[in-house]
Amino acid sequence: MPVISFANAKGGAGKTTAALLLATELAHQGYRVTLIDADPQRWISQWHELSGAVRNISIITEVSVASLQCHLREMAGQTDYFVIDLAGARDALVTTALGLSDHVFIPVQGSAMDAKGAAQILDLLALMKEKAGHAVAHSVVLTRVTPMVTTRSLLAIKGLLAQRGVNVLNTPIGERTAFRELFEVGGTLYSLDAAKVSNLDKARDNIRALADEVKRLMPMRIVRSGVGRVLNFNRSAA
Ligand SMILES: Nc1ncnc2c1ncn2[C@@H]1O[C@H](COP(=O)(O)OP(=O)(O)OP(=O)(O)O)[C@@H](O)[C@H]1O
Ligand SMILES: [Mg+2]
Repeated sequence: MPVISFANAKGGAGKTTAALLLATELAHQGYRVTLIDADPQRWISQWHELSGAVRNISIITEVSVASLQCHLREMAGQTDYFVIDLAGARDALVTTALGLSDHVFIPVQGSAMDAKGAAQILDLLALMKEKAGHAVAHSVVLTRVTPMVTTRSLLAIKGLLAQRGVNVLNTPIGERTAFRELFEVGGTLYSLDAAKVSNLDKARDNIRALADEVKRLMPMRIVRSGVGRVLNFNRSAA
């Protein structure tokens, strides 16, 4: 079961929002997701307190360097995807989580191209590869992209990162009220009221496309009830 982390050393880059959106979409599609809140600010835990139980989502809070690996081991049998939300830092917990990840997503704001925090994570990953011979797959995910951010400037950002050999997901996360709303009222994009939240259908399409891309990056085979099934495509909605 893949371990996915969201990291950017800069605060406010969009990590928690992206982590929650991906986790809840995968859960909606029927995957069992363990969402690990590894940020002392506890945004994911607060979302969970607001939301109550959400189908297919398990939450782990109070994570430390020492406990992270134990949590992954303990939950492995009942998890299809782990999603770890990290603090906007470059500390021991972030480093540990990166080392335990199958893929690290680095949210970068499409409008500000706020690259410093992202570069710190890229440097850390390069260091791990160089010093420990441990290569962790990673991609930048552009986020808070508005219609003001032109296709041309997005292509320029992608080109710049490609020059450094950094993969950029094809699906950017848009700037949307629905995404902020989740932290205000709890729940998922599928429990929000379309009459109250504008463009909810577009928000859902956006995150479905994101999850599809993530699943293509990390095809997985799980065994449940003794029957092996490939679950990266075509799961029915929860
Ligand atoms: N795609 C988006 N659309 C609209 N608002 C967004 C989006 N992504 C993030 N935000 C808003 O930007 C702010 C910062 O986002 P978020 O908390 O996800 O960042 P973070 O990287 O987790 O920050 P921190 O480093 O403090 O944990 C929040 O107010 C959030 O609601
Ligand atoms: Mg956060």
